[in-house]
Amino acid sequence: MLGKRILLIVGGGISATKIPALIRLIRAEGAHVTPVLTAAGAEFVTPLSLSVLAGEAVHQALFDVAAEAEIGHIQLSRRADLVVVAPATADLMARMAAGLANDLASTLLLATDKPVLIAPAMNVRMWQHPATQRNLATLRGDGIALVGPDEGEMACGEYGPGRMAEPGAILDAIRAALAPVPLRLLPEAQMPRGPLAGRHVVVTSGPTHEPIDPVRYIANRSSGAQGAAIAAALRDLGARVSFVTGPAQVSPPEGVAVIAVETAQQMREAVEATLPADAAVMAAAVADWRVVNGSDSKMKKDGTGRPPALEMAENPDILAWISQAPQRPRLVVGFAAETDDVIAHASAKRARKGCDWILANDVRPDTGIMGGAENAVTLITAEGAEDWPRMTKQAVAARLAARIADALA
Ligand code: CTP
Repeated sequence: MLGKRILLIVGGGISATKIPALIRLIRAEGAHVTPVLTAAGAEFVTPLSLSVLAGEAVHQALFDVAAEAEIGHIQLSRRADLVVVAPATADLMARMAAGLANDLASTLLLATDKPVLIAPAMNVRMWQHPATQRNLATLRGDGIALVGPDEGEMACGEYGPGRMAEPGAILDAIRAALAPVPLRLLPEAQMPRGPLAGRHVVVTSGPTHEPIDPVRYIANRSSGAQGAAIAAALRDLGARVSFVTGPAQVSPPEGVAVIAVETAQQMREAVEATLPADAAVMAAAVADWRVVNGSDSKMKKDGTGRPPALEMAENPDILAWISQAPQRPRLVVGFAAETDDVIAHASAKRARKGCDWILANDVRPDTGIMGGAENAVTLITAEGAEDWPRMTKQAVAARLAARIADALA
């Protein structure tokens, strides 16, 4: 998050009192915060406290001659990397959904071309009201990301969903929104028609890079070819595809929402940000380990002739995580790259990771599969193992996409 600019719109609600803590957390990550305070927000938190913590002026009025001369409100929302609305009140959400621009906050939200994350906070009945849920659906459809609300005791004494997410959770959501390119799916009208029309599938692909220092990293030989072919095949059947890719050699296909990441941790967060999805295909060759004692500056030889001792920690297993996530897609497909006893190892992996299907492939060097144009896979499901003949990665992708369409039909 280092150097990123966050435009933080503070709405009116008791949870606005948690915003100073949020600003501290964001700034501790090296990001800048520009606070915008609504009139209602100013009833709960003072502009002075926000400005001191943010180290920047607080913007409040739409027609502020001094501020306008310095930086117009349009620029304010354009120079940000991310716009965060916290707390997002029922009223702010309604105005966002309707596209109103009747104060500084709503004008900025309408004028921005940057991703927007909202942290709703309101009374449980206001949250559950069909009008708020309708507005929420509209905002989601507009590609706006959401964190919370949490369930719990409310300031008004009632119990239920409506509490603003805790500052730590909002920070995580900000990190997820900033690390990858956030999800923007194709407009409905541009989607191909097919059996997967209206379905959303998340695909991971490529290797991950685990940094050692600013110039060195640990990687693997995955080209990303199979993952890209799968994303394209799913798109061709009409699916909306979120393509979460590490630094691959092949370009991502057209017509899918590309979310570029580097590390396994970023990949996990990016996958989470794409949910809910109807299916997930985890084709990435995720690095199993990351370096925990890496350096922010280039490591130098110390003259002793002894190499640095790199300390590693295990990365999150994205396939295992999504297989038991609260928002688990209906169908979860993993890959198993094995060099011996392919079916036995892959079947065990299917059970261990909790996914529905595993596509197993034999990656012994003499097969030429890793980095090559062809693949020979065995599909392992609850029903058993099914060998597919050796074919191009595009053909494997088309066959898998067709099977996914059948399973989701
Ligand atoms: N995978 C993942 N996250 C990880 C490691 C693997 O999502 N941190 C996924 C891969 O995308 C693939 C499947 O898990 O779909 C199997 O990956 P593989 O490397 O073959 O399995 P490992 O879990 O690493 O097991 P092992 O190395 O012990 O064979």
